[in-house]
Amino acid sequence: MTNPDPRNDLAALRKEYRLHRLSELDAEPDPLRQFERWFDEATAAGEAEPNAMILATSTTDGRPSARVVLLKRADAQGFQLFTNTSSRKGDELSANPHAALVFFWPLLERQVRIEGRVEELTRSESAAYFASRPRESRIGAWVSQQSSIIPSRESLERAMEEATRRFGDGEIPLPDHWGGYRVIPERIEFWQGRENRLHDRILYQRAADGWNVGRLSP
Ligand SMILES: Cc1cc2nc3c(=O)[nH]c(=O)nc-3n(C[C@H](O)[C@H](O)[C@H](O)COP(=O)(O)O)c2cc1C
Repeated sequence: MTNPDPRNDLAALRKEYRLHRLSELDAEPDPLRQFERWFDEATAAGEAEPNAMILATSTTDGRPSARVVLLKRADAQGFQLFTNTSSRKGDELSANPHAALVFFWPLLERQVRIEGRVEELTRSESAAYFASRPRESRIGAWVSQQSSIIPSRESLERAMEEATRRFGDGEIPLPDHWGGYRVIPERIEFWQGRENRLHDRILYQRAADGWNVGRLSP
């Protein structure tokens, strides 16, 4: 017997969340500590790419766009990601330096939402991370004109072969169009799925001297 196509019954696809709970009494006073705790738990639970996150940006006239990127560092200053700065996201961030990030860790029935202002990393911060990437990825960064239309897959592979020949065994410098951004959180929400859609939502909002912590209705 063939399985019924689940798309025929999207309205009936649902899951009860019962694994964990999150109380304002247990939550860390500092959201970065809370993030680290949940990140470590997501990793230990076996999430395939715990550092994959949705990055939402927007044009100045309020048209949003979103895509997955990888978190490369989280510290007291913010959440770092790396990309082609001439890409669609790069253009949107230079015109409107505000973004939202979303992590979804389904094995733990958890979501983390982060919103804030965005700043570009310094060239030396970006160069330090760039140098840690595999050689082929560094060459790839020179070859990719991320988000522009190209004639074909073959043209991309030819450009990669040419760049590989050109660089030979030499050093691969940081391209001008490549670098990192830091999302400086103003708001971080930790969402824990619960029974009957009565989820736990703990919200941290930046205040003059630290963080205000509260609970949102599910
Ligand atoms: C799991 C995953 C990780 C990704 N990580 C990155 C990343 O760290 N940086 C990046 O520029 N694109 C990354 N991408 C590709 C982006 O989703 C996107 O296709 C690309 O950045 C172009 O986006 P834009 O046209 O909106 O600028 C990743 C995609 C997936 C599915």
